[in-house]
Amino acid sequence: MSDAKISVSKKAIGHIEKKLTKDMVLGIGTGSTVNFFISELAKYKGHFYGAVSSSEASTKLLEEIGIDVFSLNDINEVAYYIDGADEVSPENYLIKGGGGAHTREKIIASASNKFICIVDKSKLVKKLGEFPLPVEVIPESRSLVARKITSLGGTPIYRKGFTTDQGNQILDVKDIDISQPESLEALINNIPGVVDNGIFAFNKPELVLVSD
Ligand code: 5RP
Repeated sequence: MSDAKISVSKKAIGHIEKKLTKDMVLGIGTGSTVNFFISELAKYKGHFYGAVSSSEASTKLLEEIGIDVFSLNDINEVAYYIDGADEVSPENYLIKGGGGAHTREKIIASASNKFICIVDKSKLVKKLGEFPLPVEVIPESRSLVARKITSLGGTPIYRKGFTTDQGNQILDVKDIDISQPESLEALINNIPGVVDNGIFAFNKPELVLVSD
């Protein structure tokens, strides 16, 4: 599996390396695939300005290799956003959030000019939903949101012992029908107390790179 993650990371580097400029900011996702991408990116650290990061974990790795990490509030343009996924549908809709970072990931994806998703073949699915859908919730609203999600046909499971970088909690939702990703993304996000859910329909990637 590591070989596949390294191979797709190299593909992503191949895609952007000639387009890097000294004033360019890259958006960096979270997860084991992105960790390999960050290692590959180390060789190019003088070729671009810096990064915005979707998690404390990725920020730490980027800073360790000498890449400057900025707040999105201080950046006008994110040229490319590179991130992995838990599932990718034939239409390039995604489920993300296995690492619990989907809220910030979606924000940076939406801020970027081009979202490049990097996955190994195991992430490609005919239909989204085998992977439980992560929903970030404000802690005080967790039970209320869980009941509302149950009424939508889902089975929410509290991700015990996990807190997001924003200090919130995660419900992992099984058995929910994701045949209409855009409407379900909006419907869940409309429940008071939900911060964001892991469906990337409105912010799907422009390009999905898959390992050989
Ligand atoms: C983190 C994510 C990750 O992109 C997703 O979980 C894939 O991770 P990995 O590359 O480790 O399989 O959404 O919130």
